[in-house]
Amino acid sequence: MNAPVMQGLALDTPSYVKNARLIAWVADMVALCKPERVHWCDGSGGEYDRLCRQLVDAGTFKKLSEAKRPGSYLAWSDPGDVARVEDRTFICSQNKEDAGPTNNWMAPAEMRATLQPLFDGCMRGRTMYVVPFSMGPLGSPIAHIGIELSDSAYVAVNMKIMTRMGRAVYDVLGTDGAFVPCVHTVGAPLEAGQQDVRWPCNKTKYIVHYPESREIWSYGSGYGGNALLGKKCFALRIASNMGRDEGWLAEHMLILGVTSPDGDKHHVAAAFPSACGKTNFAMMVPPAGFDGWKVTTIGDDIAWIKPAADGRLYAINPEAGYFGVAPGTNAQTKPTCMASLDHDVIFTNVALTDDGDVWWEGMGEPPAHAIDWQGNDWTPEIARQTGAKAAHPNARFTVAATNNPALDEAWDDPRGVPIDAFIFGGRRSTTVPLVTEARDWVEGVYMAATMGSETTAAAAGQQGVVRRDPFAMLPFMGYNLSDYFRHWLDLGRKLQASGATLPKIYTTNWFRKGEDGKFVWPGYGENMRVLKWIIDRVDGQADGAEHVFGVSPRYGDLNWTGLDFSSAQFDSVTSLDKDAWLAELKLHEELFGRLAHGLPQELPQTKAAIEERLAA
Ligand code: OXD
Ligand code: MN
Repeated sequence: MNAPVMQGLALDTPSYVKNARLIAWVADMVALCKPERVHWCDGSGGEYDRLCRQLVDAGTFKKLSEAKRPGSYLAWSDPGDVARVEDRTFICSQNKEDAGPTNNWMAPAEMRATLQPLFDGCMRGRTMYVVPFSMGPLGSPIAHIGIELSDSAYVAVNMKIMTRMGRAVYDVLGTDGAFVPCVHTVGAPLEAGQQDVRWPCNKTKYIVHYPESREIWSYGSGYGGNALLGKKCFALRIASNMGRDEGWLAEHMLILGVTSPDGDKHHVAAAFPSACGKTNFAMMVPPAGFDGWKVTTIGDDIAWIKPAADGRLYAINPEAGYFGVAPGTNAQTKPTCMASLDHDVIFTNVALTDDGDVWWEGMGEPPAHAIDWQGNDWTPEIARQTGAKAAHPNARFTVAATNNPALDEAWDDPRGVPIDAFIFGGRRSTTVPLVTEARDWVEGVYMAATMGSETTAAAAGQQGVVRRDPFAMLPFMGYNLSDYFRHWLDLGRKLQASGATLPKIYTTNWFRKGEDGKFVWPGYGENMRVLKWIIDRVDGQADGAEHVFGVSPRYGDLNWTGLDFSSAQFDSVTSLDKDAWLAELKLHEELFGRLAHGLPQELPQTKAAIEERLAA
């Protein structure tokens, strides 16, 4: 051990940590945050167990029944710390234009001056965990390394599940390898003798990114994307900047493999806004009529996609676990996801049953009694009378990818998998048809750029209003959206010029509602019917009909074996209403108005072409 002493505190740097920049940075952060001790995480199972035990002793974790849910824990957060805080998330680029009109921005110097007093002494009385992690398979040419300093053991154990975390990262990092520095504090220093609370956090919150220096600083929250900095902060906001500079894509996309009965395999990457069923799409169980078809998961939330020497786009999942929304998950409609949760799970903000298990709305038969996510008695009767939810709508599970019975055999392949098609899917009760193929790359980028979606519980704020969510990236873009559209267009052009076959682009909408206000499309495994049409189109083996907006299947173009779905029902999820589309295009216009600075002309041109076809 070499042990520089910081204000009386030994850093106790393990001998296998040899990166001078890292050691100096940790020393600086110790001097700033003033923790009581430093713990260098090694990522071992023993360490995980010890930290979990410590969290149980602190009251943050409850150990679930070993018989019902082996190796699993439940945490209840502070009721004011339950979701990502988009209004407290900042992209602090040198120039405001580089953050773009959709991001909160503050000049870096001003933000640093704001954060300095908040971080000064923020870890007093607590342990600073040094969490080394690789986003992507260790040593993959597509992967990158981050180091998170956090005063939350909850964060350390979640990072162990969500990333490749531990000692081996230092071997890849070596003496002078690059890493993204991530500093996280719950913002609740403990003065001498002060009793800790179950879920320390601060009312003041800052989730800050400096794209030019590739740094992340997070203050005041212990929850999900605010605190597990490998996920949205690094793998999307910082990585989108790396991708723009280096010619690759960091996307809010699941990645799946589809294998036909004769062994033909395709790979699809799909972007859906938060809490729109991405985890489930990636774990889809093909329905009746699809004997021998197999869907396997490479990733459920984020894709890093790089062009390879053969000109094709290859994708890896930078994460190693799933941080999914629990409510609505059940054994009937989401059996694979449910099976992934049998053991070794960290649940956050779901209800605790009397037999030491968990329950949430949409899981099935409610228990006669439970303790809800806020620690109150809960019964179906109380729920009827007061509307009290057993689980918070954004309650989550954290689970290793290796728990997934449908995990793709190539999920950890450092080369990634070749992408055949991109899907962009919004949540829209009207207007947007079930599935549409873009006629070319530019039209696909237009579809993705203008995607709208009704908002969900994954973010704090109003729910159920349509907001434009380009590429499902609105809350996760690390730079100006218009420049990002340009990056997609440029990449497409470059690959095409090199003679490569680009992935086809599709937009889907599973969420059209009928006059009775109910979803018409059955969704879940039945989405396989759409997925198969997409795969067949990629192979040039399926028909469709061209319309103003792209190409969609006719009723007879989909396989209906095993599902009772009439052509009238099909019409109601695919019909194009001219007035609705005129109104929709006005909203696209509004979006383009907001993004006018640097907006690629291809997008308004595509819109004009749609308008012309609509008028004809
Ligand atoms: C997520 C999100 O947690 O998109 O994946 O909010
Ligand atoms: Mn997500």
